[in-house]
Amino acid sequence: MPTDARHGYDIKDASLASMGKLRIEWAQSQMPVLSLIRKRFEQEKPLKGVRLSACLHVTTETANLMLTLKSGGADLTLCASNPLSTQDDVAASLVVDYGIPTYAIKWEDEVTYYKHIEAALAHKPNVTMDDGADLVSSLHKDTTGLIEYVVGGTEETTTGVIRLRSMEANGVLKFPIVAVNEAETKHFFDNRYGTGQSTIDGILRATNVLLAGKTLVASGYGWCGRGVAMRAKGMGANVIVTEVNPVRAIEAVMDGYRVMPMVEAAKIADIIVTTTGNINIVDEPHLKVLKDGAILANSGHFNDEINIPSNAGMSAKKRRIREFVDEYTFADGRRVYLLGEGRLINLAAAEGHPAAVMDMSFANQALCAEFIVKEGKRLQKKVYNVPEQIDKEIARLKLTAMGIQIDELTEEQAQYLVSWEMGT
Ligand code: ADE
Repeated sequence: MPTDARHGYDIKDASLASMGKLRIEWAQSQMPVLSLIRKRFEQEKPLKGVRLSACLHVTTETANLMLTLKSGGADLTLCASNPLSTQDDVAASLVVDYGIPTYAIKWEDEVTYYKHIEAALAHKPNVTMDDGADLVSSLHKDTTGLIEYVVGGTEETTTGVIRLRSMEANGVLKFPIVAVNEAETKHFFDNRYGTGQSTIDGILRATNVLLAGKTLVASGYGWCGRGVAMRAKGMGANVIVTEVNPVRAIEAVMDGYRVMPMVEAAKIADIIVTTTGNINIVDEPHLKVLKDGAILANSGHFNDEINIPSNAGMSAKKRRIREFVDEYTFADGRRVYLLGEGRLINLAAAEGHPAAVMDMSFANQALCAEFIVKEGKRLQKKVYNVPEQIDKEIARLKLTAMGIQIDELTEEQAQYLVSWEMGT
């Protein structure tokens, strides 16, 4: 790997660039809000001279975000936020066609994954852009003073926000972060409709199983789990939800799903999908009762939601039966199929969320990077929500791009909402 991170890269195969470039252009056609921001950034250059290191899933949508930031004048480096989510043709195009130093190879091992993060940090970022907080946590462990250059960062996902809030609570967070995930135009859509569709897409591309009539267990009923359950139901699966949060459990019941503990659900599951953000959701007690042929998939950020049979103290024979399907055979003859080594199946076996939904997520990223450059010095070492005017502006732009008009409050209605005198 080249040692000069500013002019270096580490990708699988540069000859894939032309295919990547076409797919990046296709995604752009589905990302009107980000395209508008890109046009403004080209004129105004709000990120001029800003060194920005991004640790994101290297997809066609991320490429469009990178091109937007570059149009704004940013000096960029990109590395993968997961060893299995990189689209190698996109990484190639970013390097070959757009000159963006990119460190990402699909199926990279953990050592390479962290070398790539180091390369992104060697860029001495002023702004960090993270998905899962591995870049920021590595930066906080670095002892060479790189952190001094940072004004602030953004975080894309629920898991990352939880880690960063924990850093803040423990008094170790050394610069402000804007939690992009918390924007309504992010988690209402990306987490729900994005994860819902792309997870089913990943499971189907990995296995080509029929969902109709299957019992699918959706573990976790946050925004992602709601999306998975909703879309699986739409394709005819019999959906069971598992939850630890009593309010969410009631919501799942009233949305029409059966709710039960995992150890009961595991006995009847054909497919289990985890989106909890927690560890060992499927563990030894559950593996012991799974039916022959059960399929296990994860769509949460890290690969620790499913305790892989061989790690769970259960001896099993393993073979790779399809590209993203590992078959584990237990001593009693039962077979269990783990998809994508337990990594987020929507990005491992499919292409992640569709561009039309990433349009809003990455519009938030671009505008929050601009916000940090403008306001970062005034912010504290805390995790901030996305400013409301950014969130609302993105919603307005998206509606306009969709050709949808909505009503506005009349003067009388606006007044009514802030008055208390009027009653029955
Ligand atoms: N996370 C989920 N889907 C994604 C995509 N298509 N691009 C980047 N990050 C993602």
